Amino acid sequence: MSKSPLTPPTWSPDKAPADGRKRHAPATTRNREALLEVLSRVLPKGDILEIACGSGEHAVFLAPRLPGRRWRPTDTHDAALDSVRAWIDDLPTEHAMVLASPLALDATTPERWPIARADAIVCVNMIHIAPWAACEGLMAGAGRILPQGGLLALYGPFLRGDHPTAASNLAFDESLRAQNPAWGIRALEAVAAEATRHGLMLEDTVEMPSNNLTVIFRKGSTFPEASI
Ligand SMILES: C[S@@+](CC[C@H](N)C(=O)[O-])C[C@H]1O[C@@H](n2cnc3c(N)ncnc32)[C@H](O)[C@@H]1O
Repeated sequence: MSKSPLTPPTWSPDKAPADGRKRHAPATTRNREALLEVLSRVLPKGDILEIACGSGEHAVFLAPRLPGRRWRPTDTHDAALDSVRAWIDDLPTEHAMVLASPLALDATTPERWPIARADAIVCVNMIHIAPWAACEGLMAGAGRILPQGGLLALYGPFLRGDHPTAASNLAFDESLRAQNPAWGIRALEAVAAEATRHGLMLEDTVEMPSNNLTVIFRKGSTFPEASI
C-alpha cells in the first residue's frame, strides 16, 4: 500500500457507463459523498473489509479518497464480484493499488469468511435487504475478526423506538417485505443487541441524507453516553 497521500481522483465512477460487467446502482452516486465524509473521520488506517459491496461503486469511489487504508470489497454474489472487478480494472494504477482483490464472502457464514483480520468493516445497505441471519452473521464475524478497538460501520435505514419513522422508510419497509418476507428495515435496538452479544458496542449514530444512518460499533468498548 502506498504510504503517501494519494492525488485526489478527478474521475468518478458515474463518468464510466455501466457495461456488460459493470453494474450501476444509482443510490451510490447519491450517498457516497456523505459516506466519505463520515468514513474519513471514523475509519482507522489499515485494512478495511467491505461486506456486500454490490456494484463496487462505493469501493472505487471511497478507497482512493481514504488515504492509508487498504480496501477489500466482498459480496456473496458472483455478479457483484464481476462488477467490482470491472470497475477496479478501469482505475488508474495508483488508485487500483489501494484495493485488495474482491472476494466472495457470505455474511451468514462467518465461520467461513476468507479474511482472518481487518481493522474495520464497512457494510452499506445490506441488513435490510437480506434475512436477519445476515445481521447475526455480520456481528459474529465482526466480533471475531476485528481487533480490540476495531470498528464496524453500518449504513442504511433503521427503525428507532424513540424516533418517528419517516413515511418514506415505512413505505420502503413495506416494499421490502412484499419482495421477501425475511427482509425489512431493522430496529436499531435489535441490531445493537446482536452486536453486544459479540463484544461490539454502539458508539455513535450519524444522521445521513434521506433518513439513513451511519451506525458505528466498536469492539470491546463501552460508551455509556451512546444512545439509540
Ligand atoms: C442493496 S445491495 C447494496 C450494495 C452496496 N453496498 C450499495 O450500497 O450499493 C445489497 C447487497 O447485499 C449483498 N448481500 C445480500 N446478502 C448477503 C450476504 N449474506 N452476505 C454478503 N452480501 C450479501 C447483495 O449481493 C447485494 O450486493
